[in-house]
Amino acid sequence: MHELIQRLYENHSLELEEYENLIINRNEEAAKILRDLAVETRKKIYGFKVFVRGLIEISNICKNDCLYCGIRRSNKNCERYRLTPEQIIKCSDEGYELGFRTFVLQGGEDNFFSDEILGGIVKEIKSRHSDCAVTLSMGERSYDSYKFLRTCGADRYLLRHETADKDHYEKIHPSEMSFENRMKCLHKLRELGYQVGCGFMVNSPYQTEKNLAQDLKFIETFKPDMCGIGPFIPHKDTPFKNFNAGTVELTCYLLSIIRLIYPPVLLPATTALGTINPIGRELGILSGANVVMPNLSPVNVRKKYELYDNKICTGEESAQCRECLNNRMKKIGYEIVTDRGDIKHSMKI
Ligand code: SAM
Ligand code: FES
Repeated sequence: MHELIQRLYENHSLELEEYENLIINRNEEAAKILRDLAVETRKKIYGFKVFVRGLIEISNICKNDCLYCGIRRSNKNCERYRLTPEQIIKCSDEGYELGFRTFVLQGGEDNFFSDEILGGIVKEIKSRHSDCAVTLSMGERSYDSYKFLRTCGADRYLLRHETADKDHYEKIHPSEMSFENRMKCLHKLRELGYQVGCGFMVNSPYQTEKNLAQDLKFIETFKPDMCGIGPFIPHKDTPFKNFNAGTVELTCYLLSIIRLIYPPVLLPATTALGTINPIGRELGILSGANVVMPNLSPVNVRKKYELYDNKICTGEESAQCRECLNNRMKKIGYEIVTDRGDIKHSMKI
């Protein structure tokens, strides 16, 4: 294990089987070594700074039926909502006042958000706040759509690959969705000059250690600007309601490995991690993450954007959420900064 970890630290690369071994044979000692190296690596690039992204959950209406997701179209118990363009812009104005310089517009694949409407919202946010980055996380769209949104000013796009294994992908998605298209979208986004984020859930149903190793190998080759990983958490109204949630232990272990694979990557300590453990986000940062994404959505819709059971931060106002995370980060010796928080490629490790 020591030799593998040292090699990963020095070369930022391992063979597929070696990643698998690192996961299967993990123990507390290996986790500590990885964590220390990940923190040291992150410190060289980003110091003790933590970047914030204001998450605006713009719609829970989705034409997809991903088997793990609480807002899948087949969930008849989900109370649907969609924010108006004015509400979305108001959330970004409030966020700006609170010191946010990146806004993430996330939602289900809702046809209401045509290129014209979504592009108009992006343009408006960028014209009101020209020093801000706008990130979109609106699922799979066409090349022309991504291209148009980029010309409207969108800077970044988050599209988790979900799993780098086609067979596994097909076990957690309905047959009308395709692994190839998901991967194609990530490549299109990159080609168009977006900063691109991929990612996956830890312990998603039927996931094996080999699948996780494949995810790590994909990250090693794709070199995403951002990488969102968080535990899978079951939702009571989905076919996967009886599967187990991912653990903080394995999620943090993988965060450390990903930091070593690609040192400059922007790595969030996700809300899902904070949901399965009251100090999950702090543990994520202490394992090598450097981003948190507090919620800026209007409080009256937050509970409705329920991807999984018991999601945290659904009752707090945006200002409270920001304050809460400020304090949490301060307590562990980190500082949230008012900054767009772009990736720092130039740093040699
Ligand atoms: N529609 C967009 C897309 O497909 O990328 C963005 C919204 S989607 C709900 C955002 C992410 O939530 C997914 O990529 C998935 O990894 C995560 N997610 C969905 N259900 C989840 C669950 N039960 N537990 C943890 N994460 C989940
Ligand atoms: Fe939202 Fe703590 S981050 S209440």
